[in-house]
Amino acid sequence: MAGVRRKSRRSLRTMLIVWFLLFSLTPLVFVTGYSVQKYEVAIDNELSQRLVGNAREISVILDDFEGGLQQRKERYIKDHRLIYHLSVNEASAVRALGVNWLKGDFATSLTFFNRDGRMLASVFKDSKGDVREFAVQPNSAIYLSDQNLDKLKKVNEYSFVEFSSNQKISLILFSKVIGVGGRLVGYLEQLVDLDSVFLDRLKQRMKLELMFLKPSGQVVVATHQDFYLYKKDFFQEYTKSPQTKFFELSVRSNPYGFIVYPLKWGQSQLYLALGASKVEAKAVLRNVNYTFLTVVGAVTILLVITIFLASNTMLKPLNDLVEAIGSMQSSDKPVEIPMKSDTEIGLLTESFNQMSRNVAQAKTDLRKKIAELEATNSELRETQARLVHSSKMISLGQLVAGVAHELNNPIGFIYSNMSHLREYSDKLIQLAEAVEQNPGSIAELKEKLDIEYIKQDLPKLITSCEDGARRTRDIVLGLRNFSRLDESQLKEVNLHEGIDDTLNLLAGEVKNRIQVIKEYGEIPLVTCYASQINQVFMNILSNSVQAIDGTGNIWITTKLVSQAEGEMVQISFQDSGKGMTAQVMENIFDPFFSTKGVGQGTGLGLSISYGIIENHGGQIQVKSQVGIGTEFIITLPIQAVPTGAATKV
Ligand SMILES: Nc1ncnc2c1ncn2[C@@H]1O[C@H](COP(=O)(O)OP(=O)(O)OP(=O)(O)O)[C@@H](O)[C@H]1O
Ligand SMILES: [Mg+2]
Repeated sequence: MAGVRRKSRRSLRTMLIVWFLLFSLTPLVFVTGYSVQKYEVAIDNELSQRLVGNAREISVILDDFEGGLQQRKERYIKDHRLIYHLSVNEASAVRALGVNWLKGDFATSLTFFNRDGRMLASVFKDSKGDVREFAVQPNSAIYLSDQNLDKLKKVNEYSFVEFSSNQKISLILFSKVIGVGGRLVGYLEQLVDLDSVFLDRLKQRMKLELMFLKPSGQVVVATHQDFYLYKKDFFQEYTKSPQTKFFELSVRSNPYGFIVYPLKWGQSQLYLALGASKVEAKAVLRNVNYTFLTVVGAVTILLVITIFLASNTMLKPLNDLVEAIGSMQSSDKPVEIPMKSDTEIGLLTESFNQMSRNVAQAKTDLRKKIAELEATNSELRETQARLVHSSKMISLGQLVAGVAHELNNPIGFIYSNMSHLREYSDKLIQLAEAVEQNPGSIAELKEKLDIEYIKQDLPKLITSCEDGARRTRDIVLGLRNFSRLDESQLKEVNLHEGIDDTLNLLAGEVKNRIQVIKEYGEIPLVTCYASQINQVFMNILSNSVQAIDGTGNIWITTKLVSQAEGEMVQISFQDSGKGMTAQVMENIFDPFFSTKGVGQGTGLGLSISYGIIENHGGQIQVKSQVGIGTEFIITLPIQAVPTGAATKV
C-alpha cells in the first residue's frame, strides 16, 4: 500500500545480536568451561600429590617406631638382669626393670613372659603418660597365645598389628629372650598404641583428617567421629585397589579430597586414609566461575550495545529507503533521500535517488504516451466507424446495382410489350367500331388488321407481362425479406429461406455463369438475428461469386450435427473459385484485409461475419486450395445465445 510503512517480518538487529552472541560466546563458554574443568583436575592432582607426600611421612614415622623398638629390644633382651630374673621367674624384679625401662621409652607397654609363655609382668603408660603395672589376679595366669608361640618357634622376633575394638591400633614386636648358651629364657612384647591422640597430633601438624583402616576397609581409629559411621564396604573399594585413588568425601558438609595409602608393619598390612579440605580450592574455583560469568555478562552487554549502535547506523538508512520506496509509489515526483555518509550505504542512497529520478521521468513519459495512445485509439475508432459505414454504403450500392439490373429485365419486357399491347388494343377497338358502323367490312378489316395473329399473340403478351410483374414482385419481396428491417429482435428463422433470398439478390451475377447446387438437409428453425445472419450469407456468397472467374459451381449444404455443446446446424458454402494461399487464409478474418483492388473490396466482409457468428455462439471455419476452391463452414447453435450486444452492422 502506498505510503504505509511496512514492517519487516524479522528484525535484522535481533538476528545480528543473536548471531554475534552465538559466535562470540560459544568459544568463550567452551574455553572457560574447559579451563575450569582442567583447573579442577589440576587441583585434585596437586592435592592427591600432597596427600601421598603426607602418607609417606607417616609411613616414615612408623618406620621410625620400628627402628626405635628394635634398638631398645636389643638393649632389653641382652640385659643380664632380665635374663636372670626371667629364668628364675622373678616377676617383681622383672616388673621393676620394666617400669624403669618404660619410663625412658616411647612404647606404650612392655610385657614379659617366661619361657613357658606365662606372663610375668606387664607395665604400661596411662593416658597421662604415667607408668603403671598391670596387676595379674592372684591364682590366675595369662599366657602367650599358641599362635604367637608357634610363630616365635621359628624366628627370634615377630612384629604385627593388632586392631583393637577400642578405637586404636597397636604395633607389636614380640622377641625371644635368649640366655647363656643360647637357652630360651622368655619373651618380650613391646607395644606402641596408635590412638586418636596420636592421630590428632598428626592432624594438628598436617592439617589433615586421618584414619587407620583394616584391610577389610573398616575404620579402626579416626580423627573425626563421623568416619566411624562409614560401613567397611565404603572404603574396601580403595583398600583393594592396587593404585592410590583420589576421591571426594564430605566432612560435615565440607568437601574433602581423600586417598587411602597402604602401610606395612611387620607381618601385617594396614591402611591409612588421609583427607585434605577442598574448601579453599572450591572457593578459588567459584571465584573463577564468577569471573567468567562477569566476563560473559560484560561481553554480552558490550556486544548488544555495539550491535545496537552499529545496526542503527546501518538500519536507519535502510528504513529511510523503505519509506522512500513507499512514498515513491504514490508520488509522481522523484523522492530524494539526503546523503549522510560516503560509505556503501551512501552509495546505495545515491543510486536510489538516481533510480527515483529515472522512475519519475519514466512515469511522466508513460502518462504522455498513454494520453497519445488514447487519442490515437479514439481516432481509430472513428475511422473504423466511418469505414464500416462506407463499406455498408458500397455494399448497398452493389446491391442496388444488382437489384436495378434484375428489375430492368422484367420491367423492360413489360415496357416493350406495352407498345404491342397498345397496337393490339387500338386494332381491336377499330374492329369493334367497324362492327358497329359497317358490319359488312368486318371480314376485310379482320384480314387487314391481322386479327388472327392478335388472337394468338395477345395471351402470350399478357402472360409475359404477368411473368415480368411476378418477377418484379419477387425481387422486391426478396429485398424486404433480406434486410428484415422489421425483425431486429431474436426470431426463429428458416435459414433456407435466408439463403434463397440472398441467392435471389445475387441472381443477376449468378445467372448463366454459375450453377448453384443446393443440398438442404432437415434442419430446425434457428433462433437468431435474421438480418445479421443474412448479411453473413451475403458476404460469403458474394465472395464466392467474385472468386469464380467465368463459369463455375457453388454448393450449399445444410445439415444437423451433434457436438459436445449439443445439436448444431451446419451450413457449408463451397465454391469452385480460385481458392486462397495459406498466407491469405491466415488473415481473411482481420478487418481491412483484402486482396481485391482499391475501391473493390473493403476487407470488412469476413471480419464482420466472424463477429456475427461468434456473437451467436457459433463458429466459422474455412478450407481452401489454390485453383480448386474454397469452403466456408458455419456452425450455429439452434438456440443461438448472443454472447454480447449484437454487432451493429
Ligand atoms: N470464396 C473465396 N475464394 C477466394 N478468396 C476469398 C474467398 N472469400 C474471401 N476470400 C479472400 O478473403 C479476402 C477478405 O474477404 P472479405 O470479404 O473480408 O473482404 P473483400 O471481399 O476483399 O472485401 P468486401 O467484402 O468488403 O467487398 C478477400 O479479399 C479474398 O482474398
Ligand atoms: Mg467480401
